Amino acid sequence: MGLQAVVTGERLLITGCSGFVGKSLAKRSLEAGWAVRGTVRSASSVPDLPAGVEPVAISDIGPGTDWSYALDGVAVVVHLAARAHQPHNSSRGAHGEYLRINTAGTARLARCAADAGVRRLLLLSTIKVNGEGGARPYTEKDPEDPREPYAVSKAEAEHILREISCRTGLESVILRPPLVYGPGVKANFLRLIRLVEERIPLPFGSLVNQRSMLFLGNLINAILLCLKNPNAGGKTYLVADNEIVSTPHLIREIASQLGMKPKLYPCPPAVLIMAARIAGRREEADRLLGSLWADTSKIRQELGWKPEYSFRQGLKTTIDWYCATGSAGTRVGKPK
Ligand SMILES: NC(=O)c1ccc[n+]([C@@H]2O[C@H](COP(=O)([O-])OP(=O)(O)OC[C@H]3O[C@@H](n4cnc5c(N)ncnc54)[C@H](OP(=O)(O)O)[C@@H]3O)[C@@H](O)[C@H]2O)c1
Repeated sequence: MGLQAVVTGERLLITGCSGFVGKSLAKRSLEAGWAVRGTVRSASSVPDLPAGVEPVAISDIGPGTDWSYALDGVAVVVHLAARAHQPHNSSRGAHGEYLRINTAGTARLARCAADAGVRRLLLLSTIKVNGEGGARPYTEKDPEDPREPYAVSKAEAEHILREISCRTGLESVILRPPLVYGPGVKANFLRLIRLVEERIPLPFGSLVNQRSMLFLGNLINAILLCLKNPNAGGKTYLVADNEIVSTPHLIREIASQLGMKPKLYPCPPAVLIMAARIAGRREEADRLLGSLWADTSKIRQELGWKPEYSFRQGLKTTIDWYCATGSAGTRVGKPK
């Protein structure tokens, strides 16, 4: 993997290089021999980039972004920059922002990339384009069913990218991951680790759900493979860890990696759903309570991809990072 890049030192542009996925991808791409250019929105993000990345300033991404300098001499683009999913933010204004940044921003980048002679553009989309889950795993053949503004904006971005790809020589690759975890993880996953560490009793003991997740290292391997593999051109792939994990299993594993006993107690799911609805947190509850999983046969069969790291290895790396950085903000080191 990446052998040709090692020989040619081709230029790779990573948008959103200062983010959770971007920093890790930049580091691994450099190791694989790519000449990496990464977009940042502000100069204050430059010190966060791995040494060796050429930073390029890009203002807020949208329908009018000037990509000419960033794309100059670039062979391949990985488009990560996006307005990330934010629960509680499905107002009309927020919807417009998702469309402006994630949809129109991707369309503009794809058109400019095609004009600049870029060979391939990989878009990191989301499993939420398929929907919010159900009783069986999603495949790429399932009809799209994006339910909220973030997912709609990503689905629209996918359509426009495919359409531009059909009209131009630009090859598209679309990956749809579920929740990604690993060192540097933020938002809900980080909150869950903190809740477990703080020994907050969690009422999920009787849940029997099935959720796919993806360790950052496995995602980076999939992206690097898709950049080089000729079979990936024009394709859309669901990508996830081997293991399907229930919420109580995830909590038990986090607790075990933290060296503590989980504070899980049983509560009927119907009661949890009702409580979440009353508290206005239905969306977050769905994520913890429901099933959302992916069948990853297609990327395995067509590209020979398989996750290098198990869920347990990925989680250990994540908790080691959490303990080493004191991400709880209160202490450093594993709790006794
Ligand atoms: N993390 C997950 O669980 C997950 C799951 C599925 C899909 N994805 C997708 O993976 C991609 C990367 O996610 P991530 O977790 O790395 O997100 P992240 O940590 O929030 O990073 C997002 C990056 O995009 C940049 N960005 C955000 N809004 C921008 C704008 N309006 N204009 C220009 N740059 C902007 C950010 O720049 P600043 O540093 O300046 O804010 C940052 O570099 C996203 O497209 C996301 O939708 C993530």
